[in-house]
Amino acid sequence: MQPHRDMSARRDPGASALVSFIVPRAEVKRVKTELERREKFDRSAKIRPNTDQTFAIPSSIEWPLAAPDDVESFRARLLEGIGLAALQQKIQLAPRRGAQTHAHDASSHLGQNPLRAAIAAWITTLPSSILPSLNIAPSALVSSFPTTHSVYPPLLLLPAHAFRSSPWPTLLRHIPSPHLATLYAGLASAAGATAVAINAPIPASCAASLGATEASNSADKPPSRSAPPSPNLLRTPSGLTPLHNFPSPVPLSASASSPSFLHRPPPAALRAALWAHTTQHGIAQTWAPAYTMFSRGNVREKARLLEVVEPRVARSPSPGRAGAGPEAGNADVRFAAVDLYAGVGYFAFCYAKAGAEVVLGWDISGWSVEGFARGAEANGWVCGRVGEGDDVDLGIVQALERRRDGEEDEVGQGEVVGSAVASKRRPRRNGRSHEPLLLAFHESNGYALSRIERLRSSIPPIRHVNCGLLPSSRGSWATAVEAVDPDAGGWVHLHENVGVHDVNARADEAVGALRTLLAAARKGYDEGGEPFAVVDTLKVIHDVSKFSAVQN
Ligand SMILES: C[S@@+](CC[C@H](N)C(=O)[O-])C[C@H]1O[C@@H](n2cnc3c(N)ncnc32)[C@H](O)[C@@H]1O
Repeated sequence: MQPHRDMSARRDPGASALVSFIVPRAEVKRVKTELERREKFDRSAKIRPNTDQTFAIPSSIEWPLAAPDDVESFRARLLEGIGLAALQQKIQLAPRRGAQTHAHDASSHLGQNPLRAAIAAWITTLPSSILPSLNIAPSALVSSFPTTHSVYPPLLLLPAHAFRSSPWPTLLRHIPSPHLATLYAGLASAAGATAVAINAPIPASCAASLGATEASNSADKPPSRSAPPSPNLLRTPSGLTPLHNFPSPVPLSASASSPSFLHRPPPAALRAALWAHTTQHGIAQTWAPAYTMFSRGNVREKARLLEVVEPRVARSPSPGRAGAGPEAGNADVRFAAVDLYAGVGYFAFCYAKAGAEVVLGWDISGWSVEGFARGAEANGWVCGRVGEGDDVDLGIVQALERRRDGEEDEVGQGEVVGSAVASKRRPRRNGRSHEPLLLAFHESNGYALSRIERLRSSIPPIRHVNCGLLPSSRGSWATAVEAVDPDAGGWVHLHENVGVHDVNARADEAVGALRTLLAAARKGYDEGGEPFAVVDTLKVIHDVSKFSAVQN
């Protein structure tokens, strides 16, 4: 029998997993004590609940397995080696990795893939008759499980095809649910997560009348059962399947047909929901995966926004405007940005990070606005919220500035008009003279222009406007061209999916439409002139391209 010391971790969580001991509550102390005595208890991790009845105790012992059949003998050797052979029937082992995002490629083999290793370990816990009775080979379960997954703490998000390849469907149809609960808990633990769900593409349409409801700004209309499917304008991920430890105050299928729950979620639901977190390009993001979308796939677009913003803000606005004049310091780089479909902020925050002093965002989903505010706070930025119909005056910007500068007591309902509420967190100073101020408007972007016209004189020139709704943001283009600073000009970012062969035609069409809209909005504007150019048409990702139109 090999002593367990051969299995000590080399502390390279990217390359291998460590062993977690899955034990009943009554044995936690004993197992922990034995591990500590042998200096095998991993003090850098916590003992976590695994299922209702069991806990996962982290060890520093390396998980060495290469095949499911080995798990049983490994467990027996290990328990004997650390003096716990008497608990053979009570202790299971599971692999464990750090709580990071992992994307393993298809070449990952069992020893490097913590989820496959967790499945291998779980197989050993099944009654010995189950798999043979279904004619399922253990190795087929392991090798047919996807090699990719994402961890957005505390959530392990499995790809949409997880459990779809043979022999999983057969097993899932026949296996008692307590075994599944153990499997999901083991997967979570192996990924350093506490909750598990299966991802799904965002449906293009919803069964109820969310699209129409939203367009008319009357979110309280009950869903009409006979209504034809309408576009999923809130981009609600209603296909997501929660598997384990995933609190959803309202089941996803029901929430998808409940406009008011999505537009104006009750505070208790916001508190109870699962909120996921990630950091991209140094920007923290927070969202409720059951009710709002988050796209990891827009990484390049976000990076592009971070690059594009500062170097191109070259012209000073006219004298007398906010952001101009000697008192403004570096007037050339003082600018504001607008996101007309702000969501949980993954584009809006790029502008904030890139140097925008003020970022105004609009969204009709209460879940998105909550994620936006939480994300802003996680980045150390002050964020105000404005509800539909709130009568906000210019004081809100000054109130946010005071809040940013730490004068917390002076921000009150009298100064922040309506129900606008500024974040309580004080900002970090990270080299810039001012941290950005963010304002989230919880309403249709149809109200954006009138709000912007009232705020314009108290914010720097708006140089960037983002329109990021799929399949089309066209409904916001008229607002976008008018929102851009009329003196200094700026950029309208149209974020759409375009087939690679259609990029040029689509870009020309968009520029033409923007020209027409600008001509309609501004008297004296020469539609035949050249105020727009198309940039970034070369950003082709597979068969999809993103482009921006630039207004000079
Ligand atoms: C593609 S998602 C947002 C993407 C965004 N960049 C993010 O960080 O989440 C589109 C968002 O637009 C919102 N939306 C759709 N129509 C809207 C409208 N007319 N006014 C304001 N927000 C709208 C939806 O609620 C959804 O959150």
